[in-house]
Amino acid sequence: MKRRSLLFGGAGLAAAAGGAALLWRPEDRGAPHNEYFSSLNELLKRDGPGRPVMLLDADRVDGNVDVLTSSVGPDKTYRVVVKSLPSVPLLQHVMQRAKTNALMVFHQPFLNAVADAFPGADALLGKPMPVAAAATFYRKLGHARFDAANQVQWLIDSPQRLGQYQALARQLGVKMRINFEIDVGLHRGGLPEPEALGPLLKAIQEDPEHLSFSGLMGYEPHLTGLGASLDHPAVQNVLGIYRGFMDNAKNAGVAVDQLTLNGAGSHTLRIYDSDNTMNDLAAGSGVVKPTDFDTYHLTENLPAFFIATPILKRYDELKVAGDPWIANFLPWWNPNMRRLYYIYGGYWKARVVSPAGVPDPLYQSTNQSPITTSEAVDLQVDDYMFLRPTQSEFVMLQFGDLLVFRSDRLVDTWPVFHQTG
Ligand SMILES: Cc1ncc(COP(=O)(O)O)c(C=O)c1O
Repeated sequence: MKRRSLLFGGAGLAAAAGGAALLWRPEDRGAPHNEYFSSLNELLKRDGPGRPVMLLDADRVDGNVDVLTSSVGPDKTYRVVVKSLPSVPLLQHVMQRAKTNALMVFHQPFLNAVADAFPGADALLGKPMPVAAAATFYRKLGHARFDAANQVQWLIDSPQRLGQYQALARQLGVKMRINFEIDVGLHRGGLPEPEALGPLLKAIQEDPEHLSFSGLMGYEPHLTGLGASLDHPAVQNVLGIYRGFMDNAKNAGVAVDQLTLNGAGSHTLRIYDSDNTMNDLAAGSGVVKPTDFDTYHLTENLPAFFIATPILKRYDELKVAGDPWIANFLPWWNPNMRRLYYIYGGYWKARVVSPAGVPDPLYQSTNQSPITTSEAVDLQVDDYMFLRPTQSEFVMLQFGDLLVFRSDRLVDTWPVFHQTG
């Protein structure tokens, strides 16, 4: 009796599990390349190098730059974030279209590259750098037309770091512009409250031969995801803190309207369309729109860069090493796992965007990665798959020159920055 009820109980459980599996069965989400990606596939099969590449859609870049600059408006400076667009010709293109010379830089080798390539740039550091990185910058500074004393704003977050930079300025016999990182709620460092500014401004005022005060930088990406407009309490809180620092500087005799008052990033820049507390807004990623930037204020921007990689192998069934039972179960359960492709490379910070409906990979490999699809996807060996990077920083540096296209033509190749130098 006991055994029978156990048996029935077991069967019941199995039936329930089967029922649940059916209930939660994923839909077939597969679809072939649309017109946009079909045309890129043909282009790359014809003119591509046969390895993973980073494609840049120049028309979409232009559109995205226009959206960002119209949000910034004519009365503020649009500052281009170099780490998110790490290529001299790409930066040049964006700066020309946006009519700006303002850059935000986060890496010493990039700062030297910027000084070499853009003798007219104003380069604000986006994070406080070890003083040794500043020393390296001056040692490698080659471009006679780039005047570091007037064109770099070093970011300082503490009295200790200000002391280190002052000592370096004295040692090198140079003058440095100092911009203070302020904490407007992100809590990633910077001066914690307006009162912290006083002694630092005094130190600068007492050494005009080596130091000058150029502005404030208060980054607030914690506003992302709130769908916030200007009157949102969290936004008003950020701006209130920002104004507190400005008032403190004013009280110390500083002409604040001449400062670089930087803030924002691609996610939040649009919040400030009708506010003029900050006069200098930064954005980089919104120009190419990686997947992490599918956010509230960027709905008008379009994805403008893609990893394209050739298909090396195709199976019309799911094959798993060692042929475990799950290799039969998975394609029955999930129609998006009925075909198996291997692509050239993988494990990038990126998601397959075309063909559509690709589930998370079984595993990732930097050499050749498995991609499963539904039977609605009918790509062949040597066709290309396309991925959208989750971020542009770093990922853009992994493929050599960017392949720039407009509609169905490759129009240029743009080298990317070197990580060292
Ligand atoms: C200080 C600072 N400002 C602005 C940005 C915005 O860059 P993006 O527009 O690429 O998100 C960042 C990104 O990390 C940042 O650290």
